[in-house]
Amino acid sequence: MADSIVILTGAGISADSGVATFRGPDGLWEGHRVEDVATPEAFARDPVLVHAFYDARRFRLAEVKPNAAHHALARLDAEWPGDVLIVTQNVDDLHERAGARRLLHMHGELLKGWCLACDGRFAWDGPMGSRAVCPSCRAVGQVRPDIVWFGEMPYDMERIDEALQRADLFASIGTSGAVYPAAGFVQTARYCGARTIEMNLEPSQGSIFFHESRMGRASELVPAWVDQLLASRG
Ligand code: OAD
Repeated sequence: MADSIVILTGAGISADSGVATFRGPDGLWEGHRVEDVATPEAFARDPVLVHAFYDARRFRLAEVKPNAAHHALARLDAEWPGDVLIVTQNVDDLHERAGARRLLHMHGELLKGWCLACDGRFAWDGPMGSRAVCPSCRAVGQVRPDIVWFGEMPYDMERIDEALQRADLFASIGTSGAVYPAAGFVQTARYCGARTIEMNLEPSQGSIFFHESRMGRASELVPAWVDQLLASRG
């Protein structure tokens, strides 16, 4: 039986593509406090601000491209003989643009909308704004970004937990380990017998739970790691 691999990615994997990470040195996220733009309360209080914030990030997607780390993971997904699951906390579409298929967006996607009137979820390109019309039920002003905000339940947790329990290898790439439940994946995987490795610019908050830590840029570390893994399978 071939080895089963689970890979968790965070903002650091897209940093080399020019996408801003969340926790800058000033503690702000592109000039905003997280609680002003990434909570259901913020959306209820000021939908215009929250939409403007996500509209700007969606617009930026057209200006960035996958980097060598996204491409390397897509290659691993295509060539690894066993199970691979890439779980990303990122809401950009750079993994899929690089060609990754076995991918879950646990924090949602910028390129999707969610209608609060009919509960439909659908692809969304371009600005959303606070007067958006739902393509399913035609309700006006009920569409929000399909993004998991603080205080909301991440997507696909059952599937992720099951994969973590079966994993032989768990890799964490470009994430600070500050936000649960993703920050706890390493402990589940390790407890269930996986080897654990992190690749990040600096030690993450859960660094002690990894068997191995490689420090540096994801666009350099990840291709080397994937080459090594694929070579190990001959
Ligand atoms: P963070 O911004 O918290 O952490 C990014 C990590 O990537 C940091 O540890 C950086 O040192 C590292 N990093 C930066 N550039 C890098 C590079 N070129 N190569 C490798 N590593 C690099 O982002 P996340 O951990 O992804 O949630 O944040 C987790 C969640 O918090 C996000 O998904 C988001 C946010 O609030 C929601 O929106 C629900």
